[in-house]
Amino acid sequence: MPVAEDLVAPERGRVLNPVLDGFGRSARAHEHRLLSAARPALPYLNWLGMLARPLLKVPSLGWITADPLTARAVLNDPEHFTLLSEGGVGHLWAQILGDWVYDLFDGPGHYDLRTRSRELFTERTSTDFVRHAWGTRLDEARAAFESGEELDLADLSRVLVGMMVVTLLGLPVDASRGDAAYREIFETGEELASIALGTTADTVLPPDKIATARTIVERLTGHIGDAFATASSDTIIGRCRDIGLSLTETKGLSTLLMVAGTETAASAMARTAALLYDTGEQHRLIENPAWRENAVREALRVTSPAPLIGRSVMADLELGGRTLKAGERIMVLTWTANNLAGDYRVDRPYIPQNRQLWFGAGRHLCLGGPLARAELNAIVDLLVGDGRPFRVVSRRYGRKVLIPAYESLVIAK
Ligand code: HEM
Repeated sequence: MPVAEDLVAPERGRVLNPVLDGFGRSARAHEHRLLSAARPALPYLNWLGMLARPLLKVPSLGWITADPLTARAVLNDPEHFTLLSEGGVGHLWAQILGDWVYDLFDGPGHYDLRTRSRELFTERTSTDFVRHAWGTRLDEARAAFESGEELDLADLSRVLVGMMVVTLLGLPVDASRGDAAYREIFETGEELASIALGTTADTVLPPDKIATARTIVERLTGHIGDAFATASSDTIIGRCRDIGLSLTETKGLSTLLMVAGTETAASAMARTAALLYDTGEQHRLIENPAWRENAVREALRVTSPAPLIGRSVMADLELGGRTLKAGERIMVLTWTANNLAGDYRVDRPYIPQNRQLWFGAGRHLCLGGPLARAELNAIVDLLVGDGRPFRVVSRRYGRKVLIPAYESLVIAK
């Protein structure tokens, strides 16, 4: 639950050492500083969210809610809420990718697409993707870490996510450049996301931003044209073709996978490590390795890497005792809603009320949820799989980033 301290602006970008830093022992304080460094308004919004149960209207922002049931009512109601009109993320994407987004992203084609793509990421295919994409790089990192070397997990997360993108999209990459090549892929995704999702106030993109975004999309998906006809059904491209998507749609969906699954996943990886350390919960997890699944779910809940989900109201409706009017906007404060359930506990059981609100809900529920979980499982294994605890040596919060994340999180055994 946000406290007065949450409203104090942090010293942005300062390297913190938990031994020296008076607040270092508090996982909650670190999470709040991380949010604040990313977007200074976030802690204020979260604080306002305390009052938004079920709903609150904020001048110049619109409606906000931090109530899980109200949040799900919004996300499960395509009759009254859309992400396609101005104010929604689909509207941004349509300007970059084309008008097909209006059908396939939220229109009648969306249901069909989701039904057909349901099997893209299952628990099994996701574990396979992780092994295939990260294999030896993760093994190397683990060996060095377990032998006592320091590891910047925030940097490694960006590299690993870059490797995942390369695997999923079959992107040609000069592997001889090592980590640098994958960092670059991550940064490209970051750049695209900052254009496509970087505004919550106005979703009309100026022509120069549309042109830049289209150039990036072409850089990331230009190769798909050649691969489309022959790609194996084991790859995302082949799977998209098999489920009947056109080349344009496959390129579009690949772009979305890349944008939706890069910063969010990297953010969760380093923040999971920080939480395990700051709360001391790593010791309980080491004693009870069977709690791994809970530990991962809890990390997703407490970090909620996509802290806000926006929608536009399409038609007047009554919700939570208030009247929402067509044309208004509403923001679901996922971070607040999820954190109100309590602090990080590796043995906390599933919370039926919250379900997996960190992945959204309803027709747009995260397509990559199983992949994100498989990635976090592998990271938790890296951290404590040898049965020994680790410590955070230093950390630096990412400043002015779309998805709150550690810029650096150096850990050691
Ligand atoms: C911890 C990591 C992740 C978090 C917290 C997360 C969160 C979310 C949320 C909240 C949404 C719903 C957005 C909305 O309703 O407007 C979403 C949608 C989506 N996510 Fe994720 N995501 C994560 C990882 C991934 C990964 C790894 C992938 C794939 C590689 C992915 C692919 C997608 C796609 C394609 C959608 C759009 C689904 C649709 O509109 O039908 N996500 N994600």
